[in-house]
Amino acid sequence: MSRVHPYRLEPARIADAALLAAMTRELIEHGLKPAWGAARIGWHVRHPESIVLTARLGLTVAGFAIMRYGDDTAHLNLLAVAPAHRRRGVARRLLQWLEASALTAGCFRIGLELRAGNEAARAFYRALGYCELGEIGGYYQGVETAIRMGCDVRVAQRYDSSLNSNS
Ligand SMILES: CC(C)(COP(=O)(O)OP(=O)(O)OC[C@H]1O[C@@H](n2cnc3c(N)ncnc32)[C@H](O)[C@@H]1OP(=O)(O)O)[C@@H](O)C(=O)NCCC(=O)NCCS
Repeated sequence: MSRVHPYRLEPARIADAALLAAMTRELIEHGLKPAWGAARIGWHVRHPESIVLTARLGLTVAGFAIMRYGDDTAHLNLLAVAPAHRRRGVARRLLQWLEASALTAGCFRIGLELRAGNEAARAFYRALGYCELGEIGGYYQGVETAIRMGCDVRVAQRYDSSLNSNS
């Protein structure tokens, strides 16, 4: 039976790009020079091999993710949920939708990098079955190490039928 979830998952529109860039600056890039402006995000909205997915509650964008599909690996570029909407399963739902779409696109792995000091995100990805694969020193503008993480989405098999329940 499908569980009703109040957050709707919807592909972003070009008109969302400025808001998503502001959320990226505030929630992900703090202390770094902004690298994900509205133009770059808009490029991903338009590009057929990228997905910019939002989670909305009414008119509010509660969270979003950007992923790019490759030959057999998809790369998760950004994922963030606004503080007021955390620990309600929003990021889990975004990631599960992306995993299902990666499989459909023929990508068997999802890879990502995150800031080494971001303990909450490391715990989140571990909880979702992602493994830590190594470190890349100075990855973030020469000032912060990245942790590489990845997941075989065929093994994970976490596709949840409630993902299609937007009501
Ligand atoms: C990391 C982040 C995306 C998690 O979003 P979220 O919607 O709160 O996550 P969920 O509610 O789906 O959490 C799923 C599970 O992940 C784990 N988890 C999530 N946040 C956690 C935290 N702060 N500490 C420990 N475990 C955490 C838990 O196991 C959680 O399940 P539970 O709530 O039933 O215990 C969010 O904290 C965030 O946006 N942080 C800032 C941006 C960021 O770091 N993005 C990722 C790197 S680009």
